[in-house]
Amino acid sequence: MKLNIGCISGDGIGPEIVREAKKVLDAIAVKYGHEISYTEILLGGASIDVHGVPLTQEAIQAAKESDAVLMGSIGGDANTSPWYQLPPDRRPEAGLLAIRKELGLFANLRPAVLYEELADACPLKKETSEAGFDLLIMRELTGGLYFGERRTTVENGLRTAVDTLVYNENEIRRIAVKAFDIARKRRGKVTSVDKANVLDSSRLWRAVVNEVAKDYPDVELSHMLVDNCAMQLVKDPAQFDVILTENMFGDILSDEASMVTGSIGMLASASLNDTKFGLYEPSHGSAPDIAGKDIANPIATILSAAMMLRYSFDLDKEADDIERAVKQVLKEGFRTADIMPEGGKASGENKCSCSEMGSRIAERI
Ligand code: IPM
Ligand code: MG
Repeated sequence: MKLNIGCISGDGIGPEIVREAKKVLDAIAVKYGHEISYTEILLGGASIDVHGVPLTQEAIQAAKESDAVLMGSIGGDANTSPWYQLPPDRRPEAGLLAIRKELGLFANLRPAVLYEELADACPLKKETSEAGFDLLIMRELTGGLYFGERRTTVENGLRTAVDTLVYNENEIRRIAVKAFDIARKRRGKVTSVDKANVLDSSRLWRAVVNEVAKDYPDVELSHMLVDNCAMQLVKDPAQFDVILTENMFGDILSDEASMVTGSIGMLASASLNDTKFGLYEPSHGSAPDIAGKDIANPIATILSAAMMLRYSFDLDKEADDIERAVKQVLKEGFRTADIMPEGGKASGENKCSCSEMGSRIAERI
């Protein structure tokens, strides 16, 4: 198969982790006889440095011409990077939001799985980590507070800021359908998370999700308030299968879900529209503090590449192969710094750099 992959290396640790994911993809191409071509696409700070803006029309076009896009991470240190001297709509993150919107990527899938091999790194009680968990956050990605009207003004002499949380029923329905569809292929459970005891947008959310549920009598639906969900994720994550939620809640809960897996460096994500196209990126950020040191964990990006093969190319066998290779390397005891067990040797033979981790996984394909 010919795979046209757009590549957004981005900022911070982005280029390092994307390089490792490409190593693994290249190993897959050799083993299974695929042909991969990569097109570099600038986004975020990397685009600001060249073009003065975080996203150009050419970048959007290049993404649209790709079958799928693999991304590292964007953004820098807000306290020191000159990118953050720019107005908010010209900063790196604005480019990411704009490309999500331009490509209509309304469904963000963030699986959080506790690998047996990493149970030691899980900060939860031993009984909880031993039981393991495997959940998926289905986060709405192109609506809500992120895209509502916002402004900062002076009202009666006071600096005043407004952000607006807007959803229409179609936006809720299409993400709910995605959540129910995927729950059918998993354990058949959807927990819809909202703040319906306070917000109108959440009350509409709940009503529309209930309507969609009627078409899925085989899927069990429950509703949970977001504050309770934050608590339940650390108390008993195994209760969840698919968590369906709006943009901002999903942003926050997915960081929490990733940390209970042991490290945010393990969490992949897929952002999908209604076609086979998708943008695949780790759930973590650009970690500017460790950029260029070859110590980042490339696994979330490698697992994002596996999601890309699965969702955009229907290459399930190849995706399984990547996931198996990741598990194998973990089983063999290799760890990047973020997933070294506490008290683990600071420079033991199993501690590996970002590039070593990528090479080891690629070698096991
Ligand atoms: C994420 C990130 C982004 C978001 C930022 C970088 C704008 O935190 O993908 O979770 O909030 O969506
Ligand atoms: Mg986030």
